[in-house]
Amino acid sequence: MVSTLIVLSLIITTARSFNGFGTTGDLTTRKRELAAFLAQTSHETTGGWPSAPDGPYAWRYCFIREQNNDQAYCLPGVWPCPRGRLYYGRGPFQLAYNFNYGQAGRDIGVDLINNPDLVATNPTISFKTAIWFWMTPQGNKPSSHNVIVGQWTPSAAERDAGWLPGYGVITNIINGELECGHGPDDRVADRIGFYRSPSQLYEKCRDAVFKCGNISIGYPFSGGDREPECGHPNLELRCDDFTNTTKIEIVGIKYKVLDIHHESRILRIAREDFINNGSCRPQIPIQDSILNSEPFVPGSRNTNLTLLYDCQSSSSLGIFPCNSSNYNNVSITTD
Ligand SMILES: *[C@@H]1O[C@H](CO)[C@@H](O)[C@H](O)[C@H]1NC(C)=O
Ligand SMILES: *[C@@H]1O[C@H](CO)[C@@H](O)[C@H](O)[C@H]1NC(C)=O
Ligand SMILES: *[C@@H]1O[C@H](CO)[C@@H](O)[C@H](O)[C@H]1NC(C)=O
Ligand SMILES: *[C@@H]1O[C@H](CO)[C@@H](O)[C@H](O)[C@H]1NC(C)=O
Ligand SMILES: *[C@@H]1O[C@H](CO)[C@@H](O)[C@H](O)[C@H]1NC(C)=O
Ligand SMILES: *[C@@H]1O[C@H](CO)[C@@H](O)[C@H](O)[C@H]1NC(C)=O
Repeated sequence: MVSTLIVLSLIITTARSFNGFGTTGDLTTRKRELAAFLAQTSHETTGGWPSAPDGPYAWRYCFIREQNNDQAYCLPGVWPCPRGRLYYGRGPFQLAYNFNYGQAGRDIGVDLINNPDLVATNPTISFKTAIWFWMTPQGNKPSSHNVIVGQWTPSAAERDAGWLPGYGVITNIINGELECGHGPDDRVADRIGFYRSPSQLYEKCRDAVFKCGNISIGYPFSGGDREPECGHPNLELRCDDFTNTTKIEIVGIKYKVLDIHHESRILRIAREDFINNGSCRPQIPIQDSILNSEPFVPGSRNTNLTLLYDCQSSSSLGIFPCNSSNYNNVSITTD
């Protein structure tokens, strides 16, 4: 089972390529959209059952591939199926059928008709197809995104058919032909159950904070005496108990953490090997050591990235005087 928080960070990395996902409307609307997305994908991949240990909703993201998958799910049309390729359910939404693989692949720029298994084996592609499904109107139905952020108004006919804006319409978009319009349905109840139950991992990690000296921070950072799942493995903080200073290692290079500002999303770090040693010629260029490494991926929303290395003002950008008294001063900011 993949932990929910890791899943969240994958979503955040992937979501940058979809304008509007999780970023539309006020904070409540954004949280509601992410909660609905997590609940629906949790149901699609659930390994729980009514009397499962810790309850039916403790078993999210268990199945990447549909169980007993030997069907081709190939319908005739504009997306002919190459020999031997099967389009059974894969990924967070259990994307199925050749036409869905064809359209999703076309829109995210990956040939999924010839390589359908990428939806199960490549986490980024997997989540891109899920967010694609969420953002794209399906047939004559609206997109799940438009429904949950309140940008869909049902027509008179849709109102008469009982289509009212809300979580239930999303279930109809996903699997309406099978699950809707015939009274109580266990699958529908399971989707609602996930929406109502906060993840147990979230509850466990919500109040777990890394504390060291004057630094105090929770997700997305891991480290300290917290559960490892409470943060990203590449953002592990360590505390030096003798000096109460916080350390972080990024792509094999050790840094001292000077400051973390959660709200402004600024992490200020200084290379340990250059602190007070009179040299300022990094062996590895900074762009190789940090900027191209996950999770520090410059996304489309982080177009402006400023690196200040021992600078008194941004006018001295790119000039690194070695002998000032200001060695501990590196800040990387993105907007
Ligand atoms: C934390 O303390 C260090 C010195 O121990 C100081 O350089 C740094 O500015 C302090 N950070 C904050 C956020 O107070
Ligand atoms: C480090 O922090 C602990 C707990 O706050 C404190 O007891 C200890 O004196 C601090 N050590 C130093 C060197 O500041
Ligand atoms: C400073 O650190 C770098 C990297 O570890 C090392 O190559 C260099 O020799 C050090 N300079 C001094 C003066 O110790
Ligand atoms: C990035 O910085 C440039 C130069 O300061 C500025 O003109 C531009 O508007 C900035 N872009 C964003 C997205 O903030
Ligand atoms: C780092 O540089 C900035 C920009 O010049 C300055 O405002 C800040 O006081 C410096 N911080 C430290 C710890 O030297
Ligand atoms: C740094 O070194 C340069 C010469 O290399 C010197 O002119 C300057 O005064 C020095 N600055 C400090 C703060 O020591």
